[in-house]
Amino acid sequence: MRFAVLVSGSGSNLLALLEAERSGALAPAQIAVVVSNRPGVLALERAATFGKPAHVVDHRAYSDRLGFERALLDLLQLHQVEAVVLAGFMRVLTAQFTDRFPLRIVNTHPSLLPAFPGAHATADAVAHGVKVSGVTVHFVDATLDGGPIIAQRTVPVEDGDDATSLHRRIQRVEHQLLPEVVAQLARGQLLCEGRVVRQVHHDAQ
Ligand code: GRF
Repeated sequence: MRFAVLVSGSGSNLLALLEAERSGALAPAQIAVVVSNRPGVLALERAATFGKPAHVVDHRAYSDRLGFERALLDLLQLHQVEAVVLAGFMRVLTAQFTDRFPLRIVNTHPSLLPAFPGAHATADAVAHGVKVSGVTVHFVDATLDGGPIIAQRTVPVEDGDDATSLHRRIQRVEHQLLPEVVAQLARGQLLCEGRVVRQVHHDAQ
């Protein structure tokens, strides 16, 4: 299954995916293309290091969200993409985009959703005083961080944590979990009934 990875920043999750692909752990998922909405980000360099096609579709070049998304969709079509990973991609996608890949877009979010959706999840968790946070990998629909939850792992919040230290601890976990889920999706192991996602195992004959 050919995946696009959409990024906006440092791309540490992208790196985890690229390394998983290189080790064979991502199969049968293949990273076909990496797309950033911001030029000059480290994620693009990481993609290039692994010999992946990497493109910028700068959202600022489009007068509205729909134009930006159309450009993204055209690029993904060119690369025959069948599924999408959002790995630190900081733009909200509308139904125009998400309806093209039903149950074929996954995102990693640094909290235990539905707690702390949005762009400041770790800061919000620290400010709220929760003792446990974590990672959520979920399907993406047109709602903000609201699609069906595929997998979650807990991460403790420690005394003295700030948003950055908590995020760093969470990222170590998401670097494991996201590639695992991408491989499961590509193997057809994720079954979604309503909001509930189950992992099914196809027994070897
Ligand atoms: C990740 O922590 C992810 O949960 C959030 O954005 C961050 C991106 O980090 N959506 P990176 O670009 O993968 O390093």
